[in-house]
This record gives sequence, structure tokens and C-alpha cells, in this order.
Amino acid sequence: GPPQVIFSGIQPTGVPHIGNYLGALQQWVKLQDEASPKTTLLFSIVDLHAITVNQNPRQLRNACHQMLAALLAVGLDPKRSIIFFQSDVDAHEKLMWILSCRAQMGNLSRMTQWKASSKLNLSDNAPPVEALLNTELELGLYSYPVLQAADVLVHRATHVPVGHDQAQHLEFARKCARTFNHRYGTIFQLPETILSPAKRVMSLTQPHLKMSKSHQDPRSRILISDSTEEIAQKVKTALTDSNSGVSYDPVKRPGVSNLIEIMHHSRADGASCEDIARDCENLTMRAFKEQVAKCIDEHLGEIRQRYEELVGKEKEGYLREVAESGAMRARESAAKTMHLVRDAVGL
Ligand code: ADP
Ligand code: NA
Repeated sequence: GPPQVIFSGIQPTGVPHIGNYLGALQQWVKLQDEASPKTTLLFSIVDLHAITVNQNPRQLRNACHQMLAALLAVGLDPKRSIIFFQSDVDAHEKLMWILSCRAQMGNLSRMTQWKASSKLNLSDNAPPVEALLNTELELGLYSYPVLQAADVLVHRATHVPVGHDQAQHLEFARKCARTFNHRYGTIFQLPETILSPAKRVMSLTQPHLKMSKSHQDPRSRILISDSTEEIAQKVKTALTDSNSGVSYDPVKRPGVSNLIEIMHHSRADGASCEDIARDCENLTMRAFKEQVAKCIDEHLGEIRQRYEELVGKEKEGYLREVAESGAMRARESAAKTMHLVRDAVGL
């Protein structure tokens, strides 16, 4: 078949937490390292998506810088992968407009994310029409799946690694591609979803919720830049239960099982959650947590060191070069598609 094009994006949320890392970034690095030389890889820091919610400009700029340093620290290689800021490549917005002209409100209204992110206080089963009539719903937040579709389609991606929460949006991107192809001729590939093997890393303090930077309590998440002591402290205060010993049972023991899963995804030896539970079954909670912390710390050690180096003053020039060369290559990739798209549409 034609050469693969792998694309994925992440919002500039600052230093990634291990949910972002184990749920998304770790897989990007694996795909990069295992890709055939003919495969094109593009990884974007999607800053245009970040402004769909209220944000502070200075913080956004800083968070963009941190995310770029983090992508390099976890092992993305700018010689191999095209790493770029979305806002540096105008074609993303241009294609979004063209896709918007065919995208249907009905499909967008069924996306769950805007309901979750907006502060409109909508019940989960509020009828879409009722929600849409709310005058405070902002257009960007509502329509951002179209921008996400453009992100993927403008590079004619064949494969898109995403977390489970994003699968619905990729389905929408395929819908946009089919609609366009049907109307104007086959220009777009239908991108395939590559689901991340790590389902959901849960919050350390509220293990029924996913780990997220939007939670108040900083002890709920471990950042890839956390020190050995910070990791140990956060794991120590993680909410578990008063059952004795260690066992893997995500329903009855969500806290303990989350720690086991984190250990499973952090270890390189392929030990399953059940294996880990068996090895640790007679440990006290305290001793088990020490092992979990040690395992995370060993995995993050090199990443943290590279991150600290990359985010520092001396590397600012280097990061700028990486972003500029990524933008240049991403523009080339997008220009090829836009040429075909404009021609097909009659622009
Ligand atoms: P956050 O929820 O902290 O705002 P994002 O929504 O920016 O994180 O997610 C960035 C990427 O990380 C997405 O691909 C998402 O699927 C993944 N991700 C985020 N949180 C988790 C988690 N707790 N477990 C697994 N993957 C996650
Ligand atoms: Na989120």
C-alpha cells in the first residue's frame, strides 16, 4: 500500500502528567521507533485548540515551551518526526473552514467533549437543541472537532494514535473525509484509529476519576518532571483501601489496581497486572507503594533529566530551531493536500 502517515496532537497543557505520558506520548515514541523509514510521522502541539477555553496568554506561551521540551524529553526525535506547533501551519485553519462548510451541526451536537469542557452546566442527557440555544456556548469550543479533523486530514494521515476519550472525534474526522470525498472526489484517506494500550490512568487521590491536569489537588497526578521525593510522596498519599495485601481488582479495589496498572505500563519487562499483583500479594500497602514509586522513578529518571536540561535557558535556541524546522516540514506536507483540495473545490 501507500506509505503510512502517522499524525497525532496534544494540547499545550504544560508539563505532561503520567496519564498523558502512559496514555499517549509513550505510544508516540514507540510508533516512531518502530516505524519503517518510509513512514512519515507528524506530532503537533495543538495550541489553537488551547484557546477554545479561557486561558492566560503568558501561561499559554510557557505551557507551549514546556510541552515542546517534554516531547523531546520523552524521546521524540526531531530528525525522525515532524514536531510542530499547529498555529505555525496556516493550512490547518484554512482546511477547517472548507470542512466547516460541509460539516453538519447535528453531528457536532453529538460530540461529548464540548459539553464536558463548557461551563454551561448541562446535564449529560440535555437535548442537544436545548444546549445549542444557550447563548453562552462559544463557537470555537463547539466546532473544534472540525479543526481536529482538519489537523489529521491536512496531512492525509493514514494512522492516528489517540486516547480512548478521543475516538469519537476521529470518527467525526472520517465522516468529514467521506463527505468531502463524496462531494468533490477522493482526496482524503480515511485515517485509522490506533487506540492507546494504556486505557485510563486514574487520579491518585480520586481513583474513580481519570488523572487530569484540571483537577485541583496537585497530589492527584505525577508529572514527568517530578523528583524522586515528589513521586514517593504522591504515591504514599494515594488513596487505596484497608483490605490487607495486594490484589488486582479494578472494580472493588480501584486505587490499588490503578497503582498496579501504572507499574505495568512503566515496566519494560512485560509483566501483566496479574503478575505484578501476584508478586506483591503479601506486601503491606506501605511496602507496595514504595515499590510502585521506585518503579515510576526508574522509568522517569532519564526523562526528567532530559526535560530539565531542555526546558532551561541555554536550550531556548535549540527548541526554537526544532519548532521552526518542524513548521517548515509540516507546511510542505499540508501544502500538497491544500493544492488538491483547492483544485477539487474550485478555489
Ligand atoms: P488532561 O485530561 O490532563 O487535560 P489532555 O486532555 O490534554 O489531558 O490529554 C492529552 C492526551 O493524553 C490525550 O491523548 C489523552 O487521551 C491522554 N490522556 C489524558 N489523561 C489521561 C489519563 N488519565 N489516562 C490516559 N490517557 C490520558
Ligand atoms: Na482533558
